[in-house]
Amino acid sequence: MTPAPAATASANTNIALIKYWGKADESLTIPTASSLSLTLGGTRTTTTVSFDDGADGADAVTINGAAPGGTARARVTRFLDLVRARAGLTAAASVVSSSVVPLAAGLASSAAGFAALAAAASRAAGMDLDDRALSRLARRGSGSAARSVFGGLVLWNAGVDDATSYAEPVETAGAVGAGLDPAMVVIVLCEGRKTIGSTEAMRATMRTSPLYPAWVEAGREDLRSALAAVRERDLPRLGEVVEANALGMHAAMIASRPSIMYWLPRTIEALHAVRAVREEGLPAWATIDAGPNVKVLTRGADADAVAAALRDRLPGAAVSVRRPGGGVRIEDTP
Ligand code: PMV
Repeated sequence: MTPAPAATASANTNIALIKYWGKADESLTIPTASSLSLTLGGTRTTTTVSFDDGADGADAVTINGAAPGGTARARVTRFLDLVRARAGLTAAASVVSSSVVPLAAGLASSAAGFAALAAAASRAAGMDLDDRALSRLARRGSGSAARSVFGGLVLWNAGVDDATSYAEPVETAGAVGAGLDPAMVVIVLCEGRKTIGSTEAMRATMRTSPLYPAWVEAGREDLRSALAAVRERDLPRLGEVVEANALGMHAAMIASRPSIMYWLPRTIEALHAVRAVREEGLPAWATIDAGPNVKVLTRGADADAVAAALRDRLPGAAVSVRRPGGGVRIEDTP
């Protein structure tokens, strides 16, 4: 038997500036609204995959040196089943994945993880996907992974079906690094596990929150304003809509019955600290995902000053600067 060819790929994580929260089609991960994100440098997950007929039928999965159990493992296997079905394979896979950022660093690990897995698994299965097809495949692992296929500012078109729901880079003509110069300051307040997973929380918000339709409606206008701000290199205009969009998403979650509250007391303290830093004249706008930590959109040139000001105000928090990063990359297999 010839050894199965292995493929290795890496991807950075991303933070949504205009959020996705809710699936119009859960099995295909078609979101209820389009979203906009920034891919962050220095946050790569690198994954090696091979399909090997000699294996005993179960996939062997290692993430950061350990074998995941329960739902984490089931998600990877379900995703590999999708790749196997498309490629006409039945072989078990070996997956070895490692991330340069700790899983609990307050940065979504599933976005980088599933973008890297989609690229490595499809290649190991003999498929040659272009970036759009890769984004559609990564979407099936985790919605936000669709965006991590690309670097810089990325738009995920909600679409209406599998073919039309994919991400693409936003044409910025040098805006990332010039003109707009976005960067993120990540404030880790708590490394604890999520209380409720995003899929379940989205479902509950859609079904029970009276504020959900209003948030989706406002989100459409938010995306239009955000894209106009990017075009005009207007970071303050972008920042205002970014913070409002995230707070609206959490307002909709909090209004769910029963309430979904990812915030901790320190989350609110961090929101006030961001506001105080902004009132002192530094560019800083908060955003929050499905957890208690706060990420701050800022200007690259001011990122270190913003991080220092936030460290002063939030003793005990881990505050780090992240700059824009690139998309999925095929790597040499170790
Ligand atoms: O990638 P998922 O399906 O777990 O959803 C992530 C949702 C948010 O991070 C809260 C928002 C977003 O657009 O990334």
